[in-house]
Formats: sequence, structure tokens, C-alpha cells
Amino acid sequence: MITGGASGIGKLMGQIMAKKGATIIIWDIDEKKLKSAAKEIKDAGGNVITNKCDITDRKLVYRTAQKVKEKVGNVDILINNAGIVTGKPFWECTDEELQATMDVNTMGLFWTVKAFLPDMIEANSGHLVTISSAAGMVGATRLTDYNASKFAAFGFDESLRMEFRRRKMNIRTTIICPYFINTGMFKGVKTRFPRLLPILEEDVVARKIVKAIESNKARLIMPGLVYSSWIMRYLPVSVFDWISSFLGVSTAMDDFIGRENDVSPNGRQKLADGKAQASG
Ligand SMILES: NC(=O)c1ccc[n+]([C@@H]2O[C@H](COP(=O)([O-])OP(=O)(O)OC[C@H]3O[C@@H](n4cnc5c(N)ncnc54)[C@H](O)[C@@H]3O)[C@@H](O)[C@H]2O)c1
Repeated sequence: MITGGASGIGKLMGQIMAKKGATIIIWDIDEKKLKSAAKEIKDAGGNVITNKCDITDRKLVYRTAQKVKEKVGNVDILINNAGIVTGKPFWECTDEELQATMDVNTMGLFWTVKAFLPDMIEANSGHLVTISSAAGMVGATRLTDYNASKFAAFGFDESLRMEFRRRKMNIRTTIICPYFINTGMFKGVKTRFPRLLPILEEDVVARKIVKAIESNKARLIMPGLVYSSWIMRYLPVSVFDWISSFLGVSTAMDDFIGRENDVSPNGRQKLADGKAQASG
């Protein structure tokens, strides 16, 4: 089951897992993309169920989860993938944008996990996958709300992992922290050192995530250089900031455009801002 699985890496992961024989459940808010994602899986001979579900709507999440359980039984693997980004300095973000980022990227995890974890606990089997980001490990400009939400996602996964371990529960967790990916969500971002910090290819990322899930890998960070951010934290803050700026982390988002035609709350806000600017 994949949230936000109608586009980007979510859609690709669904396709890969459907080919391996899994029944894919996709939740998304974008109805048009949901339909075409389902068609692609079906055309390739796969099994897919789609639900239009806004993961920020707690009660809708619980209701839709109930429908899923009635239709296919327990969910074995929950991939919390839906995510949005504002891409503005904190002081330029509207209250609604800040709220939406936290609601989708953080609170959405709580509601979906609350909906499906009890069955996993009862069956003593299951796998929770959280798509965080390299932005869940390192702060960057124009990403304050996104950084906060993805650090939270990282902590959520880590804490759940400890809970399951402490209680010897057979429930796996995998946290995914990729650098920028060429899905369009971060259209316009630049990398200063493409060899060290490449903009990742969406199909490669999707394949690596599926492989990580299959091998019960607890943590996947891409590319490897992002790991060094933890070592860099031993250094004085001024040195950490200098290295981070040198690597282009403070300029990567300067020409951020993001998704046009984004139906998420932040996408609608971007569209409204654009129209306001165009009309002077
Ligand atoms: N693209 C990148 O550079 C990048 C890098 C690191 C991490 N990530 C993370 O990977 C995940 C997938 O990103 P992507 O690039 O494939 O993005 P994407 O925009 O292609 O896909 C996100 C999907 O989430 C859906 N969605 C948004 N709000 C929703 C809501 N409230 N309820 C249900 N669905 C909702 C969207 O409609 C969309 O189909 C996100 O969590 C993102 O933060 C992306």
C-alpha cells in the first residue's frame, strides 16, 4: 500500500512491486493521476486498487483503511510516500502552507500507521516504510517547513523501530532518505557537484527502495555522501555550515519551481501566488 502512489517514485515502486506479484493499493488526492497509474499497472498485468484519499483527513484515512481491509485483508507493507514541499523561505510561507506541509509529511504518517499497525501487531508481521529525505538529516535554505516535517518523519521511524525491537515484535521498518530526485517535485533545483551529490534518477531510486524493503534494510540513504552529514556534526557549527554551503546546500533551491499543476494545498497556493504576480 503506497500513499501518494499516483506519481513520482510512489508510482514507480507500485509498478515494480506489481510485476513481482504484489496487490498494490494506491492512495492519492490526484484523481486523474490515480486513474492513469492504475491503468499502467493493469495494462502490465498487475493487480491494483486505488482510493482517492487525503492522508491529512484523519477520519477519511480510517474509513478508507477499513474499506481496504474489507476488500483485501491485512496490508503487509505500508509505504508512507506522499509528500509536498513549499520551497519558500519560512517568513514567506503562509500559515496554510506551513500547516499543509506538516499535515501531509508528518501527521499523515501518524494517521496511516494508526490505521494499519494494529492488524500488523495482531498478525505479528508487517513492514512500515517511511519516505523521509536527505532533508530529514540536514537543514537547507527554502526548506524550513519541509526540513522540520522530514526530520520528524525520521524520528518517527527510529522510535517505532526501537519500540518493535524492545517488544521483540516482528514488524520491520525502513527509512528512506534520498537527495533530490528528478520526479518534478523539486523542479528547478541545482547541484553544485553532480558527481558527489547527483540529482537522482527516479527509476533508480524506486528500484533501490524496493530492494531495501525486500532485504529488510532498516535505512537507505542516497547518495552515500549524505551519510557524512552525521560525521560533520562532530565539527564546530561554523565549519559544518561552511562545508554545507560549499557543497551547494544553501544554493540548491535558489531556482526552485516545483510541480506545476500540483493539486496539493501547497500547489494550489503556488498557483494562486503565480496568478496574483501575473496580474501585477
Ligand atoms: N523528489 C525529490 O527530490 C525527493 C527527494 C527526497 C525525498 N522525497 C520524498 O519522496 C516522496 C515522493 O516524492 P516524489 O518526488 O515522487 O513526489 P510526487 O509529487 O511525484 O508524488 C507525491 C504524490 O503525493 C500525492 N499527495 C500529495 N498530498 C497528498 C495527500 N494529502 N494525500 C494523499 N496523497 C497526496 C501527490 O498527489 C503526488 O501524487 C515524498 O515524500 C517526498 O517528500 C522526494
